[in-house]
Amino acid sequence: MGTNYVIRPETPADYAAVENLTREAFWNVYRPGAVEHFLLHRYRSLPDFVPELSQVLEAEGRIPGHILYSRAELHREDGAVLPILVFGPVSVLPEYQKRGYGAALIGHTLTEAAEAGFGAVVITGSPEYYRRFGFAEAKTLGISYDGVPRDEPTPYLQALELREGYLAGGPWVYRDPPGYVASDEDVDAFDARFPPKQKLRLPGQL
Ligand SMILES: CC(C)(COP(=O)(O)OP(=O)(O)OC[C@H]1O[C@@H](n2cnc3c(N)ncnc32)[C@H](O)[C@@H]1OP(=O)(O)O)[C@@H](O)C(=O)NCCC(=O)NCCS
Repeated sequence: MGTNYVIRPETPADYAAVENLTREAFWNVYRPGAVEHFLLHRYRSLPDFVPELSQVLEAEGRIPGHILYSRAELHREDGAVLPILVFGPVSVLPEYQKRGYGAALIGHTLTEAAEAGFGAVVITGSPEYYRRFGFAEAKTLGISYDGVPRDEPTPYLQALELREGYLAGGPWVYRDPPGYVASDEDVDAFDARFPPKQKLRLPGQL
């Protein structure tokens, strides 16, 4: 764990550094290139963006870490809607990873989300990584992934109650918020604002 760091809400003055660090963290990890810096950029002008929880980690005079939160909804067959939070992208610059910065950012903002009264968080990600924050497979909390057959396992869909019993009353369906979907044209046009970087097809990508 780095000894001296500060976690605080991002401000417009951080936007460029945060977009760059998100691009660096995701580049060639899940696909050749990355889309997450574009999603993050666009989220800031969407009504679902939650600025008070979208925070940076500052260390050594730099900003090596960032997390974005937005509002989303779970839906029930009878039309009921349950407001939830989602987070992501969450990014730590490659040369700063494995120092606990990611865990510090996630833990700090989840605590603040609970204090602010939010009921639950749903994310997609690695069960091994998110288990340490209390996330469980969403299916065990009655949440299925829209478009995926009910009997198909979805271990990557993870949920965490911030208020006990908040997710009772399901079954619920989670649908990717529209803010997490982007066209290749939009991503490429945005990426052209950054220094050129080579897209590579690597093992381990989705
Ligand atoms: C995920 C990420 C934010 C974690 O940041 P970090 O500061 O390295 O995290 P921490 O130091 O708190 O934790 C590191 C641990 O998480 C593990 N870990 C990191 N990413 C993981 C993943 N996708 N799946 C499983 N484990 C993962 C590391 O192996 C390490 O394990 P260890 O504690 O047993 O050594 C960072 O690795 C990152 O930016 N990755 C690229 C972007 C990304 O995948 N973001 C998350 C998806 S939205």
